[in-house]
Amino acid sequence: MRPRTEAPALPTAPGALPGLGHVLPLLRDPLAFMTSLSSLGDVVGIRIANMPAYVVTDPELVRRVLVTSDHDFTQGRVYDKLAQFLGEGVGTTSGRKHRRLRRLVQPAFHRDRIAEYADTMRATAEDMVAGWRPGQEIAVDSAMNDMALTAVTACLFTSAMDARASAEFRESILTLFHGAVLRTLLPTAWEKLPTPGNRRYRRAAAVANRIIDRTISVYRSPGHERDDMLSLLLAARDDDGDGLTDQQIRDQVITFLFAGVETTGATVAWALHEIGRHPAVEKQLHAELDSVLGGRPPTWRDLCELRYTSRVVQETLRLHAPWLILRRTLHEVRLGDAVLPAGAEVVYSPYALQRDPRHFTAPRQFDPDRWLDERAAGHPRGAHIPFGAGAHKCVGDVFATTEITIALAVICSRLRMVPRTLRPVREVAAATTHPKGLTMTVVPRAL
Ligand code: HEM
Repeated sequence: MRPRTEAPALPTAPGALPGLGHVLPLLRDPLAFMTSLSSLGDVVGIRIANMPAYVVTDPELVRRVLVTSDHDFTQGRVYDKLAQFLGEGVGTTSGRKHRRLRRLVQPAFHRDRIAEYADTMRATAEDMVAGWRPGQEIAVDSAMNDMALTAVTACLFTSAMDARASAEFRESILTLFHGAVLRTLLPTAWEKLPTPGNRRYRRAAAVANRIIDRTISVYRSPGHERDDMLSLLLAARDDDGDGLTDQQIRDQVITFLFAGVETTGATVAWALHEIGRHPAVEKQLHAELDSVLGGRPPTWRDLCELRYTSRVVQETLRLHAPWLILRRTLHEVRLGDAVLPAGAEVVYSPYALQRDPRHFTAPRQFDPDRWLDERAAGHPRGAHIPFGAGAHKCVGDVFATTEITIALAVICSRLRMVPRTLRPVREVAAATTHPKGLTMTVVPRAL
């Protein structure tokens, strides 16, 4: 009989408390906690209350989880909770069901479509900026979230909604976002309590569902075809000629809003923060915008010319990325030296990977030129994954980078957003990382 090779003891994060595990550092400073783990090993054991979890800190092993051995994993605990809210959304399903949904939603994110959405994105950013006055102080994070919600909703279907339904829909979606984040953190029993928050959440879910269902029925009626994301979802067919049911379409719409609003809004806000505190970056950005656009509005075709702006976006996505994404093992899995039991929660953190000094020199520095071709080639494969990787890689990645680049081009070609201080703003870890209390002053540019 062959001797069984014993796996070496798994490194575990220090500071676990009985019954709580690492809940305190995760609540107090989750970003510092996550970034501290790579010095302990490639796979590090933590405990969330009594639940063991395994944080993968090595890019090559993360790639195994997401790409080469993805059949050994399913979506993890956060997704179970999110499924109550997102239903059978493309992000919450796994395996065959996921593959079918992914194929059906993909046409709505085709590059040719995004070229069309770019005009809507530009109009949304222009409307926002038109409402700002010189000297006005803007709460940047919430303003950019608002802009992102308007842009995704407009690309999806606003044309079928009157102004009142549009306002009602926005309101209900914001309530749902807030409630869904709380629901992923709090015990299930809490959701059943008749608290005002729970009642608001249920009312908001009913309103959003009613509005989406009504819009779908308008689109399904003859002569109402439109040229937007919802039309593409309605037209999509699988190999058997079957399409998505109304319920499945509703689940995808809520998924796109949930996955695509806060992430994109926060990235634009972070970019404005970084540009505001790095005068040399701001100068180079303005020079490029002036020479490529010469004062006219940006279009999809301009994006390939806006090379420095794209590097600013890439660097913002590196420094300010999603911080916690889960998978679960389907059976016992060996990852490097670690042997993980079946049903184990596995964590990857783009935020921590992308700030790891083993992969990026001076990782806390905002340096768009690290994305110049000759320098970018030096980053190890899989160390920069703001949109994830593999079968579940963000389906909205091009949508998002287009929206962020266009928003920056619209804002920065006309205005300077001046920070109150050059100090970095505090980061808060919610569904993604946000710049807490970021306020900037609108100053027209002297052209
Ligand atoms: C800066 C903006 C964005 C970031 C950083 C981001 C990040 C991510 C990441 C990391 C994942 C993979 C999660 C995993 O591994 O389980 C993901 C998935 C997803 N994202 Fe995004 N995202 C962004 C914008 C968007 C937008 C604009 C949309 C849609 C309008 C979108 C829709 C989705 C969907 C549907 C999934 C699930 C894909 C699947 O499981 O097949 N995202 N996103």
